[in-house]
Amino acid sequence: MRVGVLCSRLRVEEKLIFQALRDRGVDGERIDDEAITLGLSQGLDGYDVVLIRCLSHSRALYASKLLGDNGQRTVNAYEVIATAGDKLLTSLALSKRGVPTPRTRVAFAPQAALEAIEEMGYPVVLKPLNGSWGRLLAKINDRDAAETILEHKHTLGGYLHSIFYIQEYVDKPGRDIRSFVVGGKVVAAIYRHAAHWITNTARGGEATACPITPEIEAISRAAAEAVGGGAVAVDILEAPDGRLLVSEVNHTPEFRNSIAPTGVDIAACIVDYALEVAAMEPGR
Ligand SMILES: Nc1ncnc2c1ncn2[C@@H]1O[C@H](COP(=O)(O)OP(=O)(O)O)[C@@H](O)[C@H]1O
Ligand SMILES: [Mg+2]
Repeated sequence: MRVGVLCSRLRVEEKLIFQALRDRGVDGERIDDEAITLGLSQGLDGYDVVLIRCLSHSRALYASKLLGDNGQRTVNAYEVIATAGDKLLTSLALSKRGVPTPRTRVAFAPQAALEAIEEMGYPVVLKPLNGSWGRLLAKINDRDAAETILEHKHTLGGYLHSIFYIQEYVDKPGRDIRSFVVGGKVVAAIYRHAAHWITNTARGGEATACPITPEIEAISRAAAEAVGGGAVAVDILEAPDGRLLVSEVNHTPEFRNSIAPTGVDIAACIVDYALEVAAMEPGR
């Protein structure tokens, strides 16, 4: 069994993945996404499965497509990366499957976006469709801010900001929930506490253990399934009325801060799942 790990640089997460591979006596090899070239009609020789751990969404997207179309198994699969890597496609997939998610509207021009925002009521959150670590999220509290942000996005924003993704602000209790779903199983969950409304641990959010209640388990599994399964992390917001709402799904999650609070070896869970995928019958 040989496992390739396609990555940009070795973060703590990738080091833990290699450790988990070694612990299982499995041959793991680092594949540098800056060094490879891919053809249209062949995968990467010699790997039973390739773990996609690129920092860049576009690299993960096209690598998984080129490998997958040539019969190579990847974790995650292209379909998961394509959906989870795009917040709009994720919202759509969640909504279609009946997974609760914040009210969201999309506009293609600033004036229409402003009308949508006024209709939804303040505050709202604007997000780029691709991105992570809470970057370039905007909470808009009033019309002045709305006009400013929309003008800035329109004038300075470029391709990523040309679609206005507008979401109701969920007045959550100083935290959100991040659950890890691997091969259909919810293996761990954390709360991310922060004084700021953006709770990403990359932005200083503090992780503590979150009990996997039946509700968290059900919504996490449903969200993962909606984007095509795989090994993903689900961001969940608690609404004031107690409802859980899925904000997004992450296809290449960081998990370094989730291990100590939960006691779960998340790298090992991902590696075991990748080995299962590698051992699947062809055609599955
Ligand atoms: N609609 C919302 N209402 C309230 N808080 C939100 C909302 N959307 C996102 N957040 C906060 O911002 C954080 C980052 O948002 P998210 O959609 O997960 O983007 P990213 O891909 O940058 O992590 C979330 O973890 C949550 O704390
Ligand atoms: Mg997030």
